[in-house]
Amino acid sequence: MTQPRLLVVEDDPGVRETIVTCLEMEGYAVDAASSTSEAMERLGRESYPIVITDIYIDDRTGLDVLEAARKRDPACSVILMTARGTMETVMAATKGGAFDYLAKPFELDSMIDAVKRAEALHAAPQDEVETEELPETEMIGSSAPMVEIYKTLSQVAPTDATVLIEGETGTGKELVARLIHRWSPRAQQAFVPVDCASIAPTLLESELFGSLKGAFTGADRDRVGVFESAHRGTVFLDEIGEIELSFQLKLLRFLQEREVRPLGSARAKPVDVRVVAATNRDLKKMVDSGKFREDLWFRLNVVRLVLPPLRERRGDIPLLVQFFLQKYNQRYERGARLAESGLRELEEYAWPGNVRQLQHLIERLVILAPHERIDREAVRDALEAMEPRAHAVETLEDAEAEQIRKVLAATGGNKSRAAQILGIERKTLYRKLERMKL
Ligand SMILES: Nc1ncnc2c1ncn2[C@@H]1O[C@H](COP(=O)(O)OP(=O)(O)OP(=O)(O)O)[C@@H](O)[C@H]1O
Ligand SMILES: [Mg+2]
Repeated sequence: MTQPRLLVVEDDPGVRETIVTCLEMEGYAVDAASSTSEAMERLGRESYPIVITDIYIDDRTGLDVLEAARKRDPACSVILMTARGTMETVMAATKGGAFDYLAKPFELDSMIDAVKRAEALHAAPQDEVETEELPETEMIGSSAPMVEIYKTLSQVAPTDATVLIEGETGTGKELVARLIHRWSPRAQQAFVPVDCASIAPTLLESELFGSLKGAFTGADRDRVGVFESAHRGTVFLDEIGEIELSFQLKLLRFLQEREVRPLGSARAKPVDVRVVAATNRDLKKMVDSGKFREDLWFRLNVVRLVLPPLRERRGDIPLLVQFFLQKYNQRYERGARLAESGLRELEEYAWPGNVRQLQHLIERLVILAPHERIDREAVRDALEAMEPRAHAVETLEDAEAEQIRKVLAATGGNKSRAAQILGIERKTLYRKLERMKL
């Protein structure tokens, strides 16, 4: 394979000569320019896969060269170098899509290294994941469990039926609730989400049913409740598993009678709302253990949707990744691309945080992936950075093992000494070491 032709832009003749010679010795064909206008002229005639440019050259800078090179060929890797780097120039270089940034004086090796990395990038597009046409939808997933969800959704959405959505965190419960509303005859009316977990139990009743002035301390005016303000629309009761038993009864009455009686009022008003509820708890289990009223559960459970965790529909991962990649590339004006190795890593991960975690990971990768290339390494690094440190929640046993290791290291492996320091019998230490497999 012939090596690509490089362009070097540097006004200092000595430095220019050194760089060119060094690159030629590595076998590259190199063109050199000593001014920005000469560089622009060359870029106008030819497109270079790799450009190495000084920043402070003449009346224009390497940042202008960067812009021209990327305009000519968006895949061009531009390596900037300067002896006077500032946060502003680094920011501008990053924003302009620079491949790398070298502070002068640099070792020629580090420059060659940057060129080699850029070259690898140009030589390796075949291992990149092909982008397919994305379906026109917000709800991504074509796996069997998702298609089952769509089937139920399409039947239930147009009705007034109460729906209970269950699923682990990040599986898309709120998204589904919004879609139910959007596909219902109520779509033009309000969709009002209420996070039952974040509202103090004592305030939940007035929040939902409203209250009259003076109904309780602090009620300085009449308040319209959520159910009334969402009249003809949909109320989304999120985290329904968190409401207290006493309030569960009031909610049950509402679902049976469809009337609200604001706190402090004697009159009940009929309201027309559809209720969609969600929880990441196992409500049935809560019913069995007496923490959730069975009659309320039956009321909510007219139609039950259980969203599958991502690890049970791994086949949807490639499409989800592409969906979020496109979204964040657009939002952050990036051109992040996914390598096969990166996708494989994503497909194998366990995803305890489900789609939300995947979404956040892709967002992070789009912003931070080195050279906008998402490969195995980049995915691993990002996952590691996102995961709560395993030893932040270490067990007592882990802490003990760690302490034993430290003391043993300090005594040079002398177990009698170590046992003494640890304040335990030698026998006990041996048993512990056995368990630790040391
Ligand atoms: N199938 C999907 N396709 C595209 N985006 C999805 C999908 N499922 C979830 N998301 C996105 O993932 C994020 C989390 O989804 P959502 O808020 O609906 O989760 P949740 O089940 O309500 O989680 P929690 O229990 O933590 O509240 C949202 O940004 C949502 O748009
Ligand atoms: Mg939610």
